[in-house]
Parts: sequence; C-alpha cells; structure tokens
Amino acid sequence: ARRKIGLIPADGIGKEVIPAAQQVIEAVLPSRFSFIHLDCGFEHFQKTGVALPPDTVKQLREECAGALFGSVSSPSHKVAGYSSPIVALRKQLDLYANVRPVASPIGGTGKPIDMVIVRENTECLYIKSERITDTPNGKVAFADRQISEHASRRIGRMAFSLAAQRLAHRRKTAKAGAAAAPPTAKVTIVHKSNVLSITDGLFRESVRASQQDDARFAEVEVEEQLVDSMVYRMFREPEVFDVAVAPNLYGDIISDGAAALVGSLGVVGSANVGDDFVIGEPVHGSAPDIAGRGIANPIASIRSAALLLARIGEPEAAARIDAAVDAVLAKNDLRVLTPDLGGKGTTAGVTDSIIKGL
Ligand code: NAI
Ligand code: MG
Repeated sequence: ARRKIGLIPADGIGKEVIPAAQQVIEAVLPSRFSFIHLDCGFEHFQKTGVALPPDTVKQLREECAGALFGSVSSPSHKVAGYSSPIVALRKQLDLYANVRPVASPIGGTGKPIDMVIVRENTECLYIKSERITDTPNGKVAFADRQISEHASRRIGRMAFSLAAQRLAHRRKTAKAGAAAAPPTAKVTIVHKSNVLSITDGLFRESVRASQQDDARFAEVEVEEQLVDSMVYRMFREPEVFDVAVAPNLYGDIISDGAAALVGSLGVVGSANVGDDFVIGEPVHGSAPDIAGRGIANPIASIRSAALLLARIGEPEAAARIDAAVDAVLAKNDLRVLTPDLGGKGTTAGVTDSIIKGL
C-alpha cells in the first residue's frame, strides 16, 4: 500500500533541504510513499495571518504515516498573532519526545561518536509559568518547574526502548566468533538531583522504574550523570555515551551542545515522537544568511528522513540512508561537501552523492 508522508518545508532553507530528503526517500524506496505538501511557517503567516493552518494538522492526523518538517523563522521582535508552529504541532499531535542522534564517523575528538539524546518535550521549566513581584529590594522573578511521574516514565520507556533496539542491532551485526566483548547498550539518566532532590529526584526514580515496563529493557545497563558533569564528559569523551535521557531544559542544552561535536548544525537530524505519530526535523533553523543559494547542507534533513522511516516500519531503508550519509562524510571530499563543512559543494551535489551510495 502506498502510504503518505506529509512534507512541511516551512521557511528559508527548509524549502531546499526538505525536497532533498524527499528525493532520497524516493530513491531508497521507489514509489513506496506518496507525498503531500503542507503549508506552515512565518512566511505563510505573513501571507495569510495563520502560521499553522488547521487543515495541515487535519491532513497529518487523517492521511499521513508521518511527516518531515523543515524549519521556521521566528522574528526576534514579538509579532502579534504569531507563535511557533512547530511548538504547536508537537503539542497538538502529542509528540512528547525529541530524539536526537548525534553520530559521526569522525567526531570532534577524532573518535567515532554514536549517541542518542532523548529529551522530554512537554514539561519542566518550559510550561512557562513565570511571574514577577516587586519587593523592597527590587523585582524578583519566579518560574515553576513541572516534573511528572507520567511524563518521566514514558520518556524513560522511549530511552530504554531505543537502547534495547540498539542492543539487538549490535548483536545481529557483531561478527560471529570474534574475540571482542559481547555487545552492550546503556541508558544514561541526566539530572541534578543532588540539588533539586524533589523534581529531579522524581525524574530519576520514574525513569529507573520504567525499566520494569518491558522485558526487553532488562539487559540495558543504566547509569546516572549530573547534568554539569555530563557536559564536561560529553566534550572530553563523547564516545562513552549511548542513549542519554534528560528533562526538557537539560535536554535542550546538551543536545545543542552535542551537535557541536559533529562539526555542523547542518548534519544533525531529530525526530519528534509520540505514541501515534512522528515528525522528522533537522535541528537547525531557517538560515536566512544562506537561504536561496543552493548551498544548505541537506544531511540533517536526510538523517531526519531516516529517523522517520525507522519509525514507520522501514528500518532497513533507514539504515541504508544512514550508511550512505556516513560514507559521504567519511570520504570528506571538499568538492562535494557544503561550505558549513569547509567544502565548495551544493545541496544538489551532496544529495546526488548520497543517492549514488545507497
Ligand atoms: P540557524 O540554525 O538558522 O543558523 C545558524 C547558522 O548555521 C547560520 O550561519 C546558518 O547559515 C548555519 N546553518 C544552519 N543550518 C545549516 C545547513 N543546513 N547548512 C548549512 N549551514 C547551516 O539559526 P539562527 O541563525 O539562530 O536562526 C535563524 C532563524 O531560524 C530564526 O528565525 C530562528 O528563530 C529560526 N530557528 C528555527 C528553528 C526550528 O525551526 N526548529 C531552530 C533554530 C532557529
Ligand atoms: Mg534548542
């Protein structure tokens, strides 16, 4: 059956990198999917007064197996009536996890990096419950931080389930009879419960408890890392991490930091994941400084397409895409790679090289 993938390029280089990802999906699985183009974004808001048309959400819900989102521009000044459509999409489709693999055959420390950051996407400080009061000593501002057992336990399940999948994959691909140690997988719980013992304490306990939720999770190793030392270790020895799970704010910070380890925002993809839907999304923004010039790096979107396919029943195609991307990166041919990676290449050239390598 031909299934539909929703394409939401939105603004700026989203219009260049999402078509590149579509080409790769069509090359790896010819005529398996059909595509629908959906409106959304700041440019659409400027034309119509609506950033996220209800029809876009309706078509995603009713017709699509999943979607790919490009990037939105957010004006730095407040614009009446405009709020970020990707934030609204995550909420309306209950995409409670942001899954961000940070992988490169040639990481910043010279060793291969292969970690996944799983960020809780619905609560923590981002519930935006802030207030300010006047006191005799000047203003004081407060923000509430919500950590729930329910949200922490389901993000824990997401992390353990990814780790269990990685373990199964490692076992399948391990060379028979090789002397190497047997494959393992690990979840690192990131928190700061030495200071925030109630909120981060509940996060950590709930994630630990989620390991009981499925028999496949039992063989996954668990460790904890305080968020500050997590940053330190991630920059010194990123190769020691496998799956890391964190509350919203810490996850936001460590996942952007981790992107620096693999050379460019232009190579890091992500997936917004819920129980019923998934949207692949490059982590970068709309890059107005290079938009329209055909030099945006499509790899972040192509990796996001692989994440999408892996979650909608096409894991082999996803693995082929990732392998083709790794090969192009490992070759490091500066005539092919785009300027963000020091090359002289184009969006189209990188896309063609990946398709040739599939
Ligand atoms: P940005 O990610 O758009 O760009 C930062 C720098 O990285 C720029 O120099 C850009 O040229 C470069 N870059 C980003 N993606 C690239 C790619 N694929 N290939 C080559 N170079 C790439 O972040 P910036 O400049 O802070 O924000 C620009 C706009 O994007 C703003 O309106 C911002 O609100 C929005 N934004 C949207 C996001 C989203 O849709 N999730 C995330 C971050 C920013
Ligand atoms: Mg961020």
